[in-house]
Amino acid sequence: MNKKINVLYYWDLDGFNRWSNIFSKKAPDINLVHKDNTFSDEVDVALVWLPPKGLLASYKNLKGVINLGQGVDHLLKPGIVPKNLPIIRLVDPDMSKQMSAWVSLQVLRETCFMEEYLDQERNKNWQTVRFIPSNEWTIGVLGIGAIGEHVALSLSNFGYAVKGWSRSKKKFDGITCYHGENGLTEMLPKCNILICLLPLTNETRHIINKNTMSLLPKGASIINAGRGGHVNEDDLLEMISLGKIKNAYLDVFETEPLPKNHPFWDHKNIIIWPHVAAQTNTDTSIDQIINAARCLVNNDVAPNQIDREKGY
Ligand code: NAP
Ligand code: GLV
Repeated sequence: MNKKINVLYYWDLDGFNRWSNIFSKKAPDINLVHKDNTFSDEVDVALVWLPPKGLLASYKNLKGVINLGQGVDHLLKPGIVPKNLPIIRLVDPDMSKQMSAWVSLQVLRETCFMEEYLDQERNKNWQTVRFIPSNEWTIGVLGIGAIGEHVALSLSNFGYAVKGWSRSKKKFDGITCYHGENGLTEMLPKCNILICLLPLTNETRHIINKNTMSLLPKGASIINAGRGGHVNEDDLLEMISLGKIKNAYLDVFETEPLPKNHPFWDHKNIIIWPHVAAQTNTDTSIDQIINAARCLVNNDVAPNQIDREKGY
């Protein structure tokens, strides 16, 4: 009988039980193991979210690491994943759908003037706040990869004028695409709403800063579901206080959980979500995890291996 593949699981305990059940049903050749319950030299592959420094280096026979989510910035920090090991990330179509729903919710709050109508409701006031037709809202999406493309296309279906920005040149029906530094400078002045769905890398850290926000039209709003490190938080507070930025809808923060004394909590123009915009769905991601584990033990290149040079 072939030896089973031992996959180390590192994240929450509830998740361990849920994933164990699904592995035992779908992949009897895989054993999901917990770090407190296994010999380190028996581990073949690691399936992780936010592993601490040094943990993965202690598994000497590890052949690769599978990320339990789409963003890999946490795995590329020094001392987390030994340099010789491949890192595979999830690209889960359900994550794109969840993100499109979450982003649409924030966009609709803005474009349907939801806060203003809620205020009117409190005063039993029946009147039109303002009407801006869909096509007069220009929405820019920073990062039109697996998630950003889906989000951009969903927003375009509402009739908004959607623009997308990426590193390389792209083409999608109904979306005006920009790329590179010049593309960003060209796109920003047109965007009433700016959405960030970039990976966090050396190039994208603090991409939403005083300079880039200054290029947006006065009163633009920001939606960030990429990573907290994309937004310079002090610059955001300043730009809101100057009236340059109207509202910020944030799912991710420099420090998570957001510290209790953080000024964002009490700010009426900042809407806070606790990093929940799109979450890993066991049902829709299990097949790619099983495939990745099998590829890694057979020394095959698994789909969605990240490029450490690019950082995503
Ligand atoms: P992806 O498929 O790798 O797409 C990344 C996009 O960003 C690509 O279009 C890429 O351009 C662009 N990009 C990267 N670096 C750039 C740069 N320097 N300049 C311009 N464009 C750049 O990533 P994804 O799967 O869509 O995920 C994106 C991010 O979403 C993740 O990294 C994670 O941080 C975040 N996320 C958040 C949640 C949440 O719940 N808040 C959930 C899932 C993911 P190219 O196409 O030219 O390469
Ligand atoms: C969640 O933030 C992810 O990157 O999957």
